[in-house]
Amino acid sequence: MIAEMSEGVAEHSGIAGMMARLRAGDVRVMARAVSMMEDGTALGAVLASACRKAGGRALRVGVTGPPGAGKSTLIDHMVRWLRADGQTVGVVAVDPSSPYTGGALLGDRIRMQGFAGDPGVYIRSMASRGAMGGLARAAADVCAVLEAAGRQTLVIETVGVGQDEVEVIGLADVTVVVLVPGMGDEVQSLKAGVMEIADVFVVNKADRGGAEQVEQEIVAMQRLGEFEDAAPVVRTVASTGEGVAELMEMVRRCALRKRDTKLRWEEDRGGLADLRLDHLGVAVKSIEAARGFYEALGLRVSHEEVVEHEQVKTAMLPLGDSRIELLEATEEDSTIGRFLAKRGEGLHHVAVNVDAIDAMFAKLKAEGVRLASDAVRRGAGGHRYFFVHPASTGGVLLEIVGDEPSRDEVRA
Ligand code: CO
Repeated sequence: MIAEMSEGVAEHSGIAGMMARLRAGDVRVMARAVSMMEDGTALGAVLASACRKAGGRALRVGVTGPPGAGKSTLIDHMVRWLRADGQTVGVVAVDPSSPYTGGALLGDRIRMQGFAGDPGVYIRSMASRGAMGGLARAAADVCAVLEAAGRQTLVIETVGVGQDEVEVIGLADVTVVVLVPGMGDEVQSLKAGVMEIADVFVVNKADRGGAEQVEQEIVAMQRLGEFEDAAPVVRTVASTGEGVAELMEMVRRCALRKRDTKLRWEEDRGGLADLRLDHLGVAVKSIEAARGFYEALGLRVSHEEVVEHEQVKTAMLPLGDSRIELLEATEEDSTIGRFLAKRGEGLHHVAVNVDAIDAMFAKLKAEGVRLASDAVRRGAGGHRYFFVHPASTGGVLLEIVGDEPSRDEVRA
């Protein structure tokens, strides 16, 4: 028991050390971290979570299309373009169709073409080792590692155009679908899912006859599907790099437009509808006794305090975007003291954060919801809150939390 605990602590400091070196751009540590993601160990999951929290964000460009479309050669030129633009690059080549080769084909093909001595380019091939969902998950973790390491652009390559690949390509911000002339009914046979995720179409090997025809088929197919915004079509000749600059410009424009849409969408979500899980309140007899488990789980107490007027001692443990709040009574005859006497230790309340707490209070009151607070109160740390009675929520005490002071208070 004790041995296990101290091992956990050692692993934890190991993760912290790895994160520091990773964020400093240590390429060897980055490669090791990527391997951990592929192996899918518990420790790798802890590292992946730390990488996501580190908050790095790269432009993720997905490249997909049928085998033989020349994706690898095209990516080789895309990476050259990005390097000439001064960007650091990570290439994640995912090949679900080759469970036995170790996925070495794609990456090695590019690596052989001359990035071997450039620390600004990191290439990793991943092959299916089990369920596809596992590979998509591992690819997502690898992207998180590369972003935490400060890579500015990630290129995610998948072979083929099946539903499995759609899942992987879903990790990308901008998706490029590569086709070539002379593939017969290739465009028609593309799954609708792939047509829908395409932000930019590339007709590669455009120096061959038939490029015009493929382009027309793409345009016609988009019209049939009634896609909101038709994706542009760019012609390239990957063997010479022709058209790659135009492609990268399209990718850049598309990324900007999408970011703009996303920002607008986030603005639209403002106001009453913006709800987040703030924390889960757990009543315990002793915070000292209870916190050991949560620390073994990997959580840390970020904040402890005694709220005198509630006769309660609290400890906050951040968990993802929310928190667990441990609550201990300082007096037996208090809210938590009575809860413990009656129900024993356990979940005491669920807290939801809202942007407009006064509006929410008024709205719930107007709808006849039974509230357990007569007004919006001010708690420790200046946050404002009120409680909804379990009779209205299906048996759980619900705390509504807001950070913003009301306009009346600002005036007063
Ligand atoms: Co609470």
